[in-house]
Amino acid sequence: MNILANKTLILKRKVIRISCLILMSLILFFPSTKIFAKPIVIRFSHVVAEDTPKGRMATRFKNLVSQRIGDDKIKVVIYPNAQLYSDSKVVDELLNGNVEMAAPSLSKLKKYSKRIQVFDLPFLFVNPTAAENFLLGVYGKRILRLVEQSGLLGLGYLANGMRQISANKPIIYPEDIKGLTFRYPSSTITRDQYLALDAKPIKESFSKVYSRLANGDFDGQENTWSNIYSKRFYEHQPYMIESNHSYLGYMVLTSKKFWAGLDEELRDQLNTANAIVESGTTVHPMTVEERRLWTIALLPVWKKYEDEIGAELINAAASSR
Ligand code: LMR
Repeated sequence: MNILANKTLILKRKVIRISCLILMSLILFFPSTKIFAKPIVIRFSHVVAEDTPKGRMATRFKNLVSQRIGDDKIKVVIYPNAQLYSDSKVVDELLNGNVEMAAPSLSKLKKYSKRIQVFDLPFLFVNPTAAENFLLGVYGKRILRLVEQSGLLGLGYLANGMRQISANKPIIYPEDIKGLTFRYPSSTITRDQYLALDAKPIKESFSKVYSRLANGDFDGQENTWSNIYSKRFYEHQPYMIESNHSYLGYMVLTSKKFWAGLDEELRDQLNTANAIVESGTTVHPMTVEERRLWTIALLPVWKKYEDEIGAELINAAASSR
């Protein structure tokens, strides 16, 4: 029986709980005595759908700026769904002054510091709270500063959640991945994770994943519930394992140059959101024993990146609760 036929048979809809914690520091500018002839425009470019943690945060940010400061002084224009730039380009465009804000995933920031790769290590964080507590603590503050030498300013973090694995066949054990083609975003750790499992990783930007899944170019992919749902990846991925194997968080970035040109002060706000969606994909929740087997299979990836990331950072992340 082919897999698509299988999918149609799985009609019983399951409620999948997406736990999307939008957690970031929203930076608000206080009006100064200076009268702006024209509003300052903040172009905020991101790659995901509007109804996702990052998309909603961007809208909330825009609304807050509008309410508290006024569109006549600062106007936020959001470009979702990679309309303006992909994640691989957006940071350079921040530095070039072609966009003023972005929130790429932490995985996309290796170019600015290899240590940031810690977030990609599989089975490192026990749950999203552990990752968020790590980000809110001393290491999170240090990691924000790592990008400064490149002319960037890390304003804070935004949480999405844990990544799950989907495929066109059931995946339960590490060996089930063997020989399958898997999309990976850009992280070499994620690439090596699939190589360690004898799969064939293929690099692709987020905006192309749906069409490449539809074309059958990938057997599987990994992402958070909200990205899989909002981009309809599940339409071509009838099976999922709730692996919670790595953490997808974002760094909210601006350029130091743009920031220095503003004469306002900073203030943080916190926002939390949860959403429940329905999907027809069969989801297998990874058991404790299965998680142990996957962790053992992927330990060589931790070892390989220990020098680049630093054992202290890895241990601190692994022991975060
Ligand atoms: C991906 O490329 O899979 C994600 O990083 C996209 C995103 O920004 O959530």
